[in-house]
Amino acid sequence: MSSSAPGTPLQRPVLAGNWKMHKGPAAAREFFGDFCERFSPRPDRTVIFFPPAVSLEACARALAERPDIALGVQNIFWEKEGAFTGEIAAAMAVDAGATYTLVGHSERRHVFGEADEDVGRKAAAALAAGLLPVICVGETLEERQAGRVAEVILRQLDTALAALDPTVRPGILVAYEPVWAIGTGVNATPADAAAAHGLLRQRLEHHAGPAAPHVPILYGGSVKPANAAALLAAADVDGLLVGGASLRPDDFARIAAVSPIPHS
Ligand code: PGA
Repeated sequence: MSSSAPGTPLQRPVLAGNWKMHKGPAAAREFFGDFCERFSPRPDRTVIFFPPAVSLEACARALAERPDIALGVQNIFWEKEGAFTGEIAAAMAVDAGATYTLVGHSERRHVFGEADEDVGRKAAAALAAGLLPVICVGETLEERQAGRVAEVILRQLDTALAALDPTVRPGILVAYEPVWAIGTGVNATPADAAAAHGLLRQRLEHHAGPAAPHVPILYGGSVKPANAAALLAAADVDGLLVGGASLRPDDFARIAAVSPIPHS
């Protein structure tokens, strides 16, 4: 979509669905058959889906008449090509129809052992290939209970941004996804989200300078149609990254249509 070209501020809010390891090509086609009937193009927002990579081309075809809906991949590897069995390069994702990629999702960090430095390398490789990285950060419950939210999420952000040339830092998105809220049904309160997003925004000002307000910061973790508007109304929440509820066309159509909230 034209609003997502690198260097162009995205339309807010940004409503993104992360399908994780759900929906092969046939299920993806079926989803969009239903979703596109429920959700009409809206110029006042950015809508993105992150299907499994094997479904990307089927999604791109299913959305041929819907340039308002963008696609991304859930992960990339930082090398351009080579003997890296099972991995996907950023340029391949672009070729298959992706405009965005998640990097450092909590499941990549916690299930697959990705380090903060790996996330930076992936973000840099994405930008070099013209793919917009969504840098995901978030603390575990243990870290929250120990009062370490700021330390953890700012370390994750700082390490990722350190891998990027200062001139390209504004071309990213950030997602705050507290690990304890992902897939648990327990979302962060709007106040918790605002506090974390405020810290991230401040740090972005340090790293990205005057362009920092253009970096969208998405909240993710148990977003549902019932809590989407309240979370989006929180200060510095520019969008939502939705897992489970993005698998159901009716639920995600409601979330994607949530009322625009003026950016604070
Ligand atoms: P959830 O997942 O909405 O199912 O909690 C969010 C995410 O992991 O991106």
